[in-house]
Amino acid sequence: MSIDSFKHIYSEPLMGNKTIFLLLHGTGGDENDLIQLAKMIDPQAGILSLRGNIDENGMNRFFKRKAMGILDEDSLKAETIKLNTFLESASNEYGFDNRQLVAIGYSNGANIAASLLFHFNDTLYQGMFLHPMVPTRSLALPDLSNQRIFIGAGENDPICSPEETEELESMLKNAGASVQTYWGQDGHRLSNPEVDAASIWYENL
Ligand code: MLT
Repeated sequence: MSIDSFKHIYSEPLMGNKTIFLLLHGTGGDENDLIQLAKMIDPQAGILSLRGNIDENGMNRFFKRKAMGILDEDSLKAETIKLNTFLESASNEYGFDNRQLVAIGYSNGANIAASLLFHFNDTLYQGMFLHPMVPTRSLALPDLSNQRIFIGAGENDPICSPEETEELESMLKNAGASVQTYWGQDGHRLSNPEVDAASIWYENL
């Protein structure tokens, strides 16, 4: 699979910074959506920002869904494998080590980022999952004791219930990951206090 398998934007980290943010947008977004957020969190970090390959009535996504909130697990698995392969190609093409990647995924993008961890424990080591769901319940998770994850959740998120967030948090923790969860009151929306909490988590990487 080639570097062209995902439309993307890449920029190198500046001034000796090592981080490369892997940006994964929400449903209907594109590779431009999360760049401003990434710049707020670390203006010197590099960026690898992807556009999801699935077209749902004109909306970009990273995998198919059967209905609102019902993920198509076959599509999720296939697209997770493609994403993993793309990241290998990207690290060769651009000359980074995947330990430099810090995922920032929102909603649909957070779900595929979580799915990457569920399937592979050597691709992502740290990430901010903003309003994620449980990607699948049919897998035994690999050892995630090297991974550090920030979850941004909403106490009143209509797409991802607090119970589902807690389930994801405990699945990741039981696999050994270090997980910090921020609870907001802004539904499925990204809020400023959530971004502030994610920034503080990131500064302590
Ligand atoms: C998904 O399908 O990934 C979730 O329902 C979140 C979203 O609507 O994008």
